[in-house]
Amino acid sequence: FSSQAPGKERTLIVVKPDGVQRRLVGRIIQRFEQRGFKMVGLKMLQVSEDLLSNHYRQLRMKPFYSDLVQYMTSGPVVVMAWEGHQVIQSSRNMVGQTNPAEAQAGTVRGDFSLHVSRNVVHASDSPEGALRELQLWFRGQELLDWECIDESITC
Ligand code: TYD
Repeated sequence: FSSQAPGKERTLIVVKPDGVQRRLVGRIIQRFEQRGFKMVGLKMLQVSEDLLSNHYRQLRMKPFYSDLVQYMTSGPVVVMAWEGHQVIQSSRNMVGQTNPAEAQAGTVRGDFSLHVSRNVVHASDSPEGALRELQLWFRGQELLDWECIDESITC
């Protein structure tokens, strides 16, 4: 899932239901491609409460948890695995602070959202988190290890 080889780090990015409903999926993918990261997994799904309670297990006691579950199950999400040099840290920076009011312009949350409870996107926050979340959201065979066909394609 998450190889330690240089440049092979992987992370989980989820476009949350508000991002899908607002037609932001393409623009979010574009930012990761433009940065130079490699897409190695992609699917759309309706999240189950089981998966969500595992994903957000550290938040189960928070006062906002039930609203978070309602939000995250309000429609399909788009789940992606991205690979590349320090992709975990870079994608956290590209996504911006949890609270969009604190997120810098130029970040996904800073450009596309207003409220912490509708912050468009999830990004794993550590190597341990990325490994755990990739294993939770993807089957091994859904992550593809691909290379460019030859030197006529910039890779
Ligand atoms: P958290 O893991 O703290 O942030 P991040 O998504 O940046 O890793 O919180 C998970 C999600 O919970 C967050 O993206 C939105 C929601 N949330 C709220 O709805 N209200 C809050 O006060 C916080 C802290 C988070």
